[in-house]
Amino acid sequence: MIATLTLNPSIDYVMKCTKIIPGETNRTEGEQIYPGGKGINVSIMLKRLGIDSQCIAVKAGVTGELLESLLYQQGLSPTLISLKGGGFTRINVKLQGDGITELNAKGPSLTPAVMESIFHELEGLQKDDLLVIAGRFPEDETSREIFSFLGQLKKKGVKLVADSSGPALQKLMEIGPYLAKPNLREFKELTGISMTDWENISRAACQFWQHGDSQSFGAEHILLSMGGDGAILFWDRENIFFAEVFDEETVNTVGAGDCMLAGCLAAYLRDGEPEEILRLAVACGSAAAFSEWIPEKPLPSENVISKRLHI
Ligand SMILES: Nc1ncnc2c1ncn2[C@@H]1O[C@H](COP(=O)(O)OP(=O)(O)OP(=O)(O)O)[C@@H](O)[C@H]1O
Ligand SMILES: [Mg+2]
Repeated sequence: MIATLTLNPSIDYVMKCTKIIPGETNRTEGEQIYPGGKGINVSIMLKRLGIDSQCIAVKAGVTGELLESLLYQQGLSPTLISLKGGGFTRINVKLQGDGITELNAKGPSLTPAVMESIFHELEGLQKDDLLVIAGRFPEDETSREIFSFLGQLKKKGVKLVADSSGPALQKLMEIGPYLAKPNLREFKELTGISMTDWENISRAACQFWQHGDSQSFGAEHILLSMGGDGAILFWDRENIFFAEVFDEETVNTVGAGDCMLAGCLAAYLRDGEPEEILRLAVACGSAAAFSEWIPEKPLPSENVISKRLHI
């Protein structure tokens, strides 16, 4: 069983405009509406790979109702926790013109009642279930409660999958997730390296890669994504692989990391070997980078060029 958690989901309103002039009335050439949020993206991509997940997210107000119907349209049966007493699920505006300008809204604050319902849902997770924790965390007391709860889940044997950044990623590393998927920026922040040659990357990865019981800080497996420069999977000492990405025209790389994570988890759930896990991850990530939104299917993973690395 696999679950994803999205604390602050969104409605993503994508507006296409050739030119945006601040302070003027700008007209669009078309618009699209999508359900948004990192955990939600992972659940949708998993569904497209034929894997059902429990998609747990918070909804609020009328936009929360819209989010729910958009998720059903994607074939999900989400577990939505209602935030009562004001506020609404945020709408993030993405202006697609010369590049993408994003206006990401703050979203509603979580109440103690909502937190209780979230924990109640998560309590249903059993040993060896996977829980994807993706995206930002609230900048208040709530986060402390969440981390402490995640620590309890880990003790119970739930496998945490961390795709976050900044202080939240640090905290998750203290808990010790089963898998972490930093991008290069997040990896640099976490390890403090500035040079990204193999020697520096491998040395830094070892700082937060748990081998055996000797190290308490870090993840058991690390999937490092480097945008168009490929990806490295640190599975265990004997299984470290690099993969190149596909070379096509990129359309939208936002969310490519989430789709990549879904591919990685899908291959893992099908008992794939580490190299196959990396190949499907890259095939999904690249397919996402070449699509407007979450791709219908991955690129052929057998065409991914990969090689074994040694440290
Ligand atoms: N320019 C590109 N060309 C081909 N593939 C790409 C490109 N950019 C991203 N990808 C694919 O997507 C994967 C994840 O990309 P990236 O490292 O940008 O993730 P991320 O920053 O976590 O993304 P997200 O916006 O979802 O958080 C890459 O490993 C690759 O498979
Ligand atoms: Mg990411």
